[in-house]
Amino acid sequence: MANAYISGTGYFVPERVITNDYLTQFMDTTHEWIVERTGIHERRYVSDETGPAGLAKHASEIALKEAGLTVADIDFIIFATSTPDYYAPGSGCILQDEMGFGNIGALDVRVQCSGFVYGLSIADQYIKTGEFKNILVIGAEVQSTAMDLSDRGRDTAIIFGDGAGAVIVSATEENKGILSTHMHSEGKFLKELWLEIPSSRKNPRIDQKMLDDGRQNLQMNGREVFRHAVKRFPEVIIEGLEKNNLTTADVSLVVPHQANTRITEMVRRKLKLPPESMYMNIHKYGNTTAASIPIALAEAMRDDRIAGDDIVVLAAFGSGFTWASAIIKW
Ligand code: COA
Repeated sequence: MANAYISGTGYFVPERVITNDYLTQFMDTTHEWIVERTGIHERRYVSDETGPAGLAKHASEIALKEAGLTVADIDFIIFATSTPDYYAPGSGCILQDEMGFGNIGALDVRVQCSGFVYGLSIADQYIKTGEFKNILVIGAEVQSTAMDLSDRGRDTAIIFGDGAGAVIVSATEENKGILSTHMHSEGKFLKELWLEIPSSRKNPRIDQKMLDDGRQNLQMNGREVFRHAVKRFPEVIIEGLEKNNLTTADVSLVVPHQANTRITEMVRRKLKLPPESMYMNIHKYGNTTAASIPIALAEAMRDDRIAGDDIVVLAAFGSGFTWASAIIKW
């Protein structure tokens, strides 16, 4: 049976930098409050009608180049996003066309902040069964168009940003790659972090009253999200390590979903990991949902934070609630 390893990484963020000070024009907040509560200094917003597929194209081109592959080598596309370009069809189909892939399968994964890890898990299975040799796995988001830039939306608007990360998952006979993946959900908390409208339960799916009420914007109960996140992150990391007879002492780097610096710090303390073992870039990009792990992974590679034989742990928690981890031998 083949192993699945990450043969290339890439990321792309839009040029438009949105500082905390910029947000203070629209809402009652301060740079200091945002940094203290979230660790975020700035985030990126698209400036035109670019969707996640457009951001993903740049990230994917870089990942392909790093893997030494071309579009002709890719057998399947897995596109994780909670902010698809359109309600239908999926962003994976848009990317297939825009990058000139063959008529390969393109699967959108809608698991919000955990979407990239779920996507990696799917890729791992296809590689291990021998079905595919090279799979493009993407996390890409345009959250900015669902932000309420007013006092009403200030708890959410300060957190989220736009961006894309991509990896190529390839088959190898070597003893390396994805060791295991672990996925969970708890749908009873769906309204703690959700985007309700447009909804197929409504007819029409969206109307002026819903817009006036701001139901087209991402809604979050920050305290509840926080409470669950600090429990689920450590749980799913330990679950993955135990599955592979590893301990936290074996971990070279954790690349967590960049939810919030305070969450990551509490998780790190719970796991008794040293500060340098957590890769963080949330100060630059905010929380980019499904894109945050592949962006951080690509940056960690470029910062020489990952070397051969390292045990790298990916871990996510978010809307759903969903949470997931991947244990990788690099
Ligand atoms: N600027 C200034 N004050 C703000 C604010 C902002 N941007 N957003 C909220 N506040 C205010 C609240 O209105 C509240 O005021 P009140 O006491 O007068 O009612 C006060 O700050 C405390 O609000 P609370 O929601 O209890 O703050 P908090 O300490 O929980 O911080 C979050 C708010 C959103 C930063 C925090 O809950 C959080 O980080 N949660 C997790 C979010 C997350 O990681 N989401 C992504 C998961 S994938």
